[in-house]
Amino acid sequence: MVTPLEIPRELLAQAVDQSHEGITIADASQKDWPLIYVNAGFERLTGYPAAELLGKSVRLLQGTDTEQPEINVLREAMSQGKNCLVTLRNYRKDGSMFWNELSLSPVRNDAGILTHYIGIQHDVTARIMPDQRLRQTSLHTQPVHPEPQVGISGHFDEQLDRMLSTAQRTHSQLSVLVVNLDQFKHFNERYGRAAGDTCLRMVGERIARSFARTTDRVARHDGDAFFIVAMGESPEGLQQHVSKLRDQVRALNIPYSDSPDGVITICVGGVTLIPQHNITAKDLIKKADAALEEAKRRGHDCELLI
Ligand SMILES: Cc1cc2nc3c(=O)[nH]c(=O)nc-3n(C[C@H](O)[C@H](O)[C@H](O)COP(=O)(O)O)c2cc1C
Repeated sequence: MVTPLEIPRELLAQAVDQSHEGITIADASQKDWPLIYVNAGFERLTGYPAAELLGKSVRLLQGTDTEQPEINVLREAMSQGKNCLVTLRNYRKDGSMFWNELSLSPVRNDAGILTHYIGIQHDVTARIMPDQRLRQTSLHTQPVHPEPQVGISGHFDEQLDRMLSTAQRTHSQLSVLVVNLDQFKHFNERYGRAAGDTCLRMVGERIARSFARTTDRVARHDGDAFFIVAMGESPEGLQQHVSKLRDQVRALNIPYSDSPDGVITICVGGVTLIPQHNITAKDLIKKADAALEEAKRRGHDCELLI
């Protein structure tokens, strides 16, 4: 068997360079532990070319999200020259968030003096947010789900008109709901547009899955709002359905450190009624919007159905 010392240095260097994981080396003899090496896996993971990272501290990947308890664990381990393993939120060059499982190991010289630290970074987003990739994929491949679009599409207007006249003709219950992500504008500013788009896709997909009967319609509207139209659901059933949807969105566990729950939440406003003949689609949307405004006045993560 070949011992590590017998393996050609070039082969070892190649193994490190071509590893799928991110591998980084920081100089422990200099202030602020600047990076002296990053492999191609780390460039791929973070979207930063090596030239933009070398000579700097890797803390730049934390962006403004620096109040994570794991960062204290890192600081403590590094000040004592110890190993550590943490999972923390990091941000790529394009602003999108990923969960980074970071393993840090000290390197000492023959005199036992700490000279370097080696970091191995592994993207564990799919493990922490298992549904994220699945949801993104199905949103792109199933046109029945709400595609990002600004304003209510003409298509959706027509569907609402059709459902309204069916409900008027058959004296059926019709519900129009507006769903809004709590403090989404601030989320976008804090985590970047790419993270915001991912978050919207995940929430949109969750809504579409929740209201997936043939008599339900979901559409994206106005950036961070979604419309739902549902036919034939009793007011009590709808109330439960909407509460469950709020729980499901919370359970997506989209991290948002400024939210009181630490995750993305939604507010829902809506109107549910057996529509008279003089009521129009515009009236229903107005009522749902007013209910949403009132729900938001009451706080975050809540609903108001009238
Ligand atoms: C080799 C090495 C790799 C590191 N990799 C990461 C990383 O991928 N993500 C991260 O958030 N912090 C990483 N860190 C930790 C930060 O560079 C920094 O040490 C940490 O934020 C705590 O120090 P601070 O209080 O100066 O920010 C790494 C540190 C070292 C030494």
